[in-house]
Amino acid sequence: MLQSIISRTHTAVVMWDISGNIKNLASAVLEILLSHSGVVLLIGAVTVTVYKSVRKQHAPPGPPRLPFLGNILQVPRQFQSIPFLDWSTKYGPIFSLNLLGQNIIVLNNFKTANDLLERRSNIYNSRPHLIMLQDILCGGSFPPLEGDADIWRRWRRASHETFGTKGVEKYQAVQSKAAALAALRIATHPSGWEHTIEVTVYGWPPLEEDSPAIELVFKLAERVSNAAVPGAFLVDIFPLMKFLPAWMARWKREGEEFHNQMSAVLEKYLSDANEQMVSGDAQTCYVSEFIQTEDRHGFSRKTSAWISAVMLAAGAETTSSTMTNFLLAMLNYPGVMRKAQAELDEVVGRGRVPTFADMDNLPYIRAIVRETLRWRPVSPIGLPHVATEDNWYEGYFIPKGTAVDPSIYPDFDVYRPERFLDESGKVEISPSDVRQSGHATFGFGRRICVGMHFADQALFIAIATILWAFDINPPVDENGDVVIPPTDQLVDAGTVV
Ligand code: HEM
Repeated sequence: MLQSIISRTHTAVVMWDISGNIKNLASAVLEILLSHSGVVLLIGAVTVTVYKSVRKQHAPPGPPRLPFLGNILQVPRQFQSIPFLDWSTKYGPIFSLNLLGQNIIVLNNFKTANDLLERRSNIYNSRPHLIMLQDILCGGSFPPLEGDADIWRRWRRASHETFGTKGVEKYQAVQSKAAALAALRIATHPSGWEHTIEVTVYGWPPLEEDSPAIELVFKLAERVSNAAVPGAFLVDIFPLMKFLPAWMARWKREGEEFHNQMSAVLEKYLSDANEQMVSGDAQTCYVSEFIQTEDRHGFSRKTSAWISAVMLAAGAETTSSTMTNFLLAMLNYPGVMRKAQAELDEVVGRGRVPTFADMDNLPYIRAIVRETLRWRPVSPIGLPHVATEDNWYEGYFIPKGTAVDPSIYPDFDVYRPERFLDESGKVEISPSDVRQSGHATFGFGRRICVGMHFADQALFIAIATILWAFDINPPVDENGDVVIPPTDQLVDAGTVV
């Protein structure tokens, strides 16, 4: 750019020279311009060098990196939280990595994550742009993956109407039914009980795990999470590859095919829900409500179809994994289970199942919900937020475009719902060093989980119903010995969006 400005200046001055009019003046101007351009160039070069050295000198510490690859070989595809934990011990509460050119900063305690992602949420509000995932597989119709874009804002607004603190109350009846069905399924069909979110998103009856609809949505979730792994597709490292014609690039062809097939099925789910609504058969569900507002929020039918599938995929594995962690906790902390059951016996009794009307009188169950979320966050390294401006934090320079990941493990191992209650055991409290909910499992700032109130409600009624209906006991092996599942053997699979 500077080069072209300089050469244009030359041409202009030479033309004056040819005209023979003000030759001396022209050479004077030439001199000034040349020296001016030189100064500009010099300033430009100095600025870039200083900027680079500021970036380097003031970057948070981190493990040594290889040229071009950065730290990619040190970060496993699964269980990233394990090296993160080691590095946090070595480098402190804020350290940096580079994955194939993408700068990443990892925040390892609540304070740093809160200071940046919550207090500066106006500039930590974007997401990394992944071409294969966002543009090709999802065709730009997946707002939670978008940066601080208009489509994301409109979708957040629409979702708040449905999933805000007040909005979610209308789902209580459906969630109670789903919890009762889940309890029934535990007794009759122990592996499929968690797939009840479809009731609330699409208004479908609970489906079997191998039903085509569930398989499809999970295929979508799997494809999304695989494409989100850094370096999974070369186009995300060399963005110009996105302009290759589909016939030359198999990955692009297959991605576009996937998008078209998925769109057709998801639009069909949406129009089925719409028909049910028109005929008056629809039960309260996310989709039926969303369709009614799609024009007002400016969404096409296709985008609405994708958004609905996102809600199902996002809500299903996160909630079901939290329920699995709850069962794990009950097996390892039977004292907590007995205490919760004593509360249920006192408040609810044996003549009826717990309902949302009991919520205020069941503080220990509410504390179990919070403690389960805190104890084993389903996404221990959260989702990255991307800085939209250069900024400084505690002497570190964080350039625009850096992805920032929270990775927080407060008091990792001890499961103790009492931490959320005062001495009387009736009044909820929040530890001072964490957000009001007592954990950071739903994330931070403007990107905080849009389904958190919905999830809190679903977990409350599911946990209350299961503890009311069952004793959760460990299995016995062939020698008659009790086998308690260990609390440190985690599975790393699935999707959090
Ligand atoms: C126990 C249950 C759940 C957990 C632990 C969870 C966790 C999370 C986390 C950690 C994030 C990232 C927040 C951030 O970037 O700071 C997130 C975002 C999101 N969650 Fe959840 N979630 C749960 C349930 C749900 C449910 C039930 C839904 C929908 C019905 C949902 C929909 C979403 C969506 C759409 C986003 C993206 C938000 C955005 O980028 O603006 N989640 N969730």
